[in-house]
Amino acid sequence: MQEIIRQLEEKRNRARLGGGEKRIASQHAKGKLTARERIELLLDADSFEEWDMFKEHRCTDFGMDQQSIPGDGVVTGYGTINGRLVFVFSQDFTVFGGSLSEAHAEKICKIMDKAVQVGAPVIGLNDSGGARIQEGVASLAGYAEVFQRNVDASGVVPQISMIMGPCAGGAVYSPAMTDYIFMVKDSSYMFVTGPDVVKTVTHETVTAEELGGAITHSTKSGVADLAFENDVEALLQLRRFMDFLPSSNREKPPVRPTHDAPERKEMSLDTLIPDNPNKPYDMRELILKVVDEGDFFEVQPGYAGNIIVGYARMEGSTVGIVANQPMVLAGCLDIDSSIKAARFVRFCDAFNIPVVTFVDVPGFLPGTAQEYGGIIKHGAKLLYAYAEATVPKITVITRKAYGGAYDVMSSKHLKGDVNFAWPTAEIAVMGPKGAVEIIFRQDIGDAEKIAARTEEYRQKFANPFIAGHRGFIDDVIMPHSTRKRICRSLAMLKDKKLERPVRKHGNIPL
Ligand code: HXC
Repeated sequence: MQEIIRQLEEKRNRARLGGGEKRIASQHAKGKLTARERIELLLDADSFEEWDMFKEHRCTDFGMDQQSIPGDGVVTGYGTINGRLVFVFSQDFTVFGGSLSEAHAEKICKIMDKAVQVGAPVIGLNDSGGARIQEGVASLAGYAEVFQRNVDASGVVPQISMIMGPCAGGAVYSPAMTDYIFMVKDSSYMFVTGPDVVKTVTHETVTAEELGGAITHSTKSGVADLAFENDVEALLQLRRFMDFLPSSNREKPPVRPTHDAPERKEMSLDTLIPDNPNKPYDMRELILKVVDEGDFFEVQPGYAGNIIVGYARMEGSTVGIVANQPMVLAGCLDIDSSIKAARFVRFCDAFNIPVVTFVDVPGFLPGTAQEYGGIIKHGAKLLYAYAEATVPKITVITRKAYGGAYDVMSSKHLKGDVNFAWPTAEIAVMGPKGAVEIIFRQDIGDAEKIAARTEEYRQKFANPFIAGHRGFIDDVIMPHSTRKRICRSLAMLKDKKLERPVRKHGNIPL
């Protein structure tokens, strides 16, 4: 018996060593943690239950029958983050470059299947050279098995990808189908074809970092939601992020006790809006002052800064925040911000997270770049996402709500549950100047007349009361009471039920 136990421990130690001391040292030299060290940091101490530690590949070609390492380049299992169950796979770059074999894929699929059955998130820590070249189509099949599960799990359990090394070729499409992609600066990259192929095909010279590094994807392409400095920061922030999410679509968002009183007044909000309507202010300040303890987890902060999205809590419960940012492009909606916010709203809706929307939007961004890029179709994504969302929707218009953008931003007409306006709100088809120049075109040469007409328009429409008369706004509220009014609305909507008509699925303008 003792001997059997000793042999088991020896086998375990062999698996734990992955590709060996030398490759572990090389991983550390690149500033990267190993697959197991990452899991240790991510999960609560001593909570990890590993599966398939002894699983090996079945390839016999290219001398692979002589090389086999237990675990086959991926560590899989489950554990807890602050006491809540999550499933994890962590690719081990020290074993065949973390490449994905048939067996490696089977391990990932096994935990994904179980996660869906029990209703818990799947976290992938990606660090892989892609398809295991020696296995050919068997490894491609393995990828496709993972892809299918990504789709089947979509909207059922949260799926999070942390990119902590290479992720190239078709391999990028598994993270791409998960809900969030986070990356580590300088040590991770994602691209469909690498710098060498790019050079051959397009004659562009570009480094891997420039082509698909964390900064590129979190600022230019929008593929990544956040970029972290190193593995440790990435994993600790991921723990914080997971605290906001429900475990599955069967659950309500988690509640965390808070000392922040729901009726807390924030007097400084009464002077947040500048007297000059063309002067920007920082919408982030409003968010931080309204949510519990100023704790806001922003996603995609470096991309499409004209809209802010992220998670916070109100009276302890998670909410999704969407807010126009007047500091960037005057808060206009454009292609990138529409897509960014639409995807965010859909995630919230899929996982029962109420959406709180702060509106200060002068309209859609004009121009050929936007029209040629398809702003019609992309702007429609956000409209569609808000209209189909059945979670509680609270809207606060702080200043401008002009034109189609007024309709889009969770208006009453898109089944907004509670729609507030600050007294500074201006709800109209367009700004006073633009409006007068169209409806009084004949007076354009007469500056005095135009000024008088503009003032008349401003008096009439640049306020929240016309919308209020029609019931499109439920109340005009004092800015300092915003937190209290939102908390009460959310409490009232706690058990909201709104069913959509039965259908296979809608056809969001992709
Ligand atoms: C098998 C691989 C491998 C792979 C790396 N290795 N990638 N083994 N299949 N795909 C092995 C290497 O042979 C090496 O083994 C070890 O992992 C570490 O690799 P290095 O090259 O020494 O590391 P580094 O210099 O850091 O370079 C990392 C890398 C490079 C950039 C990822 O290894 C690379 O270019 N790999 C090939 C990438 C690729 O073309 N993959 C297929 C993509 S297509 P030893 O024994 O020397 O330590 C794809 C299709 C998916 O993935 C389709 C889905 C539909």
